[in-house]
Amino acid sequence: MTVPLPVDELAVLRERRSAKWQTYPAGILPLTISETDFPIAEPIAEVLHEAVSRSDTGYAMPAPEFGKAVAGFADARWGWPVEPGRVTAVTDVSTGCAGLLRACCRPGEAVVISPPVYPPFFDWVAEVGAELIEAPLRQDGSGMWQLDLDALRDAFRVRPAAYILCSPHNPVGRVHDRGELEVVVQLAHEYGVRVISNEIHAPLVLEGAAFTPLLTSIPGDGAGPLLVRRPAVPGRILAGRRRVSRRCRGDFNELA
Ligand SMILES: Cc1ncc(COP(=O)(O)O)c(C=O)c1O
Repeated sequence: MTVPLPVDELAVLRERRSAKWQTYPAGILPLTISETDFPIAEPIAEVLHEAVSRSDTGYAMPAPEFGKAVAGFADARWGWPVEPGRVTAVTDVSTGCAGLLRACCRPGEAVVISPPVYPPFFDWVAEVGAELIEAPLRQDGSGMWQLDLDALRDAFRVRPAAYILCSPHNPVGRVHDRGELEVVVQLAHEYGVRVISNEIHAPLVLEGAAFTPLLTSIPGDGAGPLLVRRPAVPGRILAGRRRVSRRCRGDFNELA
């Protein structure tokens, strides 16, 4: 059954002050700006209204409920046991990826990505002064995009400091299967490469596809690779309400 999402009239949407609605003249809709048009979910709106009504907008404190909420969701959705105490909140996924890169790689070291990929991956690598190595995706006989594990091995032979994995992969929509991820993990161990797994799109896979959290494809306790996941409040809905967490740097250093 298809349930239409309630979306405001175009004229009302055009009154929004966000980049999606103000960057270009009316008539051009930049689909590259992935802001949602439907209203903010009621429970989120309520918490925000309540906080603003009390001017409760100071610097955030660590919230143990956050780790518990992430763990509950991961368990219910993927059967993935997450330890709540190991969950760290970041301002948004991009800040998290750049922060992890900074923590695990020094300027001049190499970082691998698999294009075509969400363009800011290139920017994060440049931001930390790392050298970019591309291990592009490949298309199989039916035109399906997937990780090129041979290209990845070649890239890892250079002993890069990190690999930023996009799982599921934006923009091709590929949900990497467990077998592929196990090879990624095995290669990472073999060549001593940190894997930063950007799993922002994990809750959005199509019916029939099974998302595998990278940490569930690691033998042992999964202590090697690092992980970045979606923040509790989706940045794309509340992009204008972000605050920089001063705790991030220290937290990443602990992880590294
Ligand atoms: C793979 C990927 N990472 C990060 C982002 C941006 O996330 P955020 O706005 O939380 O930085 C997107 C947005 O589409 C994305 O596709």
